[in-house]
Amino acid sequence: MSNISMLLIIFVLIVPCLGNDEEDNAFEYLKRFGYSSCNDSSASAVKCSENFNELLKEFQRYFGLNVTGALDQSTKAIMNLPRCSVVDKPRQSVLQQIIKFKWSRFDLKYRIESYAYSKEISHTKQEEIIQDAFNEWSKHTSLKFTKVCSTCLADIVIQFTSRDHGDDHPFDGKILAHAFPPTDGRIHFNYQDTWTDSYDSTSKYEINLFLVAVHEIGHALGLDHIRNKQSIMYPTYQLKQRSQILPLVDQQEIQAMYPKKVEEGEIVEKIYGTSKYRGQMKNGLRHGHGQIVYDNNATYVGEWKTDKFDGHGIYTSSSGAKYVGELENSTFNGQGIITYSSGNSYMGDFKNDKVDGRGMFTYPSGSHYVGEFRNGDFNGRGVFMWANGDKYVGQWKDDKREGYGFFINTKGQVQRGQWKDDNFIK
Ligand SMILES: *[C@@H]1O[C@H](CO)[C@@H](O)[C@H](O)[C@H]1NC(C)=O
Ligand SMILES: *[C@@H]1O[C@H](CO)[C@@H](O)[C@H](O)[C@H]1NC(C)=O
Ligand SMILES: *[C@@H]1O[C@H](CO)[C@@H](O)[C@H](O)[C@H]1NC(C)=O
Ligand SMILES: *[C@@H]1O[C@H](CO)[C@@H](O)[C@H](O)[C@H]1NC(C)=O
Repeated sequence: MSNISMLLIIFVLIVPCLGNDEEDNAFEYLKRFGYSSCNDSSASAVKCSENFNELLKEFQRYFGLNVTGALDQSTKAIMNLPRCSVVDKPRQSVLQQIIKFKWSRFDLKYRIESYAYSKEISHTKQEEIIQDAFNEWSKHTSLKFTKVCSTCLADIVIQFTSRDHGDDHPFDGKILAHAFPPTDGRIHFNYQDTWTDSYDSTSKYEINLFLVAVHEIGHALGLDHIRNKQSIMYPTYQLKQRSQILPLVDQQEIQAMYPKKVEEGEIVEKIYGTSKYRGQMKNGLRHGHGQIVYDNNATYVGEWKTDKFDGHGIYTSSSGAKYVGELENSTFNGQGIITYSSGNSYMGDFKNDKVDGRGMFTYPSGSHYVGEFRNGDFNGRGVFMWANGDKYVGQWKDDKREGYGFFINTKGQVQRGQWKDDNFIK
């Protein structure tokens, strides 16, 4: 548990320090946020150092400042920024780099147990903001987050709470929030802070809930701080616009832990010669759901894979024949129903655009065949019922009665035996 708590992430608003205590406060800051190797148990191989100036240099390197080893203005400025306080891990051990805590499932549930003071943002709005914050991470991964009821079993549990709230990491007036890495799932926001949904608040005490929520969820998914200032996982609180929320660096970090989302192409319109396509595409090919209208008025509406009809679809030919069913490699393959412009129809198996397998073929007169087909014709065993009630039960070859079978008419007369070329032999 101590390893886990060391990874605990805390946002802290550092109040400007008082003159004489400046160095003491800076020293406390450095020890608290991971710059001292003395209380880093998992990095015990590193020589323990508590020299103030050395810790300060480490901090200055981390934040890209001039490494002076002195508590200068730019160093103090960074220390005064509201920030996420867990250990910045300036010297990550190899072990820490390899061992990443992460979720083994991608379909995660979360619940909101309590809310921020609702004068500023309504509960409904807070719920929207938190769902939006989860969505930022699922845009780039196959992670899915579903909100469940406030008492339901959940992987990630969100609370607005204050002071000592039973996790050994009490909030003080400076702390904004903290989160525990997987598979703990706890995210705590400080109820005593002023949360807002504004992106251009002029008050330095108002904290944008969405930005902090995205950051904390990042930690709850297993991300550490990222030194890059563009990153939402940067240790200090930065007011960013929504559109810039997850830059490439964050997308790469999260995709190194969880598989990428399977792209669902956006709807595009494209002309192919004289045909017009409207639907999804992937890697420049028609892929997903889409429809095409050919210049001879034939149409297809349905699923595509790598530029071919593939999946379930509806194809209407220029003559008005209509197929509804399964397709593969741009041909009727699988089960389907076809209605020809002549009024004939077929329901059953298809192979390479042909009726093939088992099915029922019906003529407009009402006559019908139920049985086996091959290569578009009656082939194999089948029953033919004429509209007047006559019936043949037996073998077929290329649409003709051939082989053993019997014919029975409505008067009860029977011809039973061998057939050839649609005629009774004996
Ligand atoms: C390191 O120790 C100091 C006290 O010396 C403590 O305030 C701080 O929280 C500790 N940091 C971590 C990351 O445990
Ligand atoms: C670092 O030092 C150089 C030269 O002394 C100065 O121009 C620059 O502004 C300093 N950078 C920071 C971040 O303080
Ligand atoms: C396609 O349909 C349009 C409008 O319904 C019609 O004007 C055109 O003649 C048709 N083209 C063919 C090849 O049937
Ligand atoms: C798909 O159909 C094309 C002809 O349209 C054919 O050349 C190709 O071999 C078929 N591919 C498969 C996998 O059946």
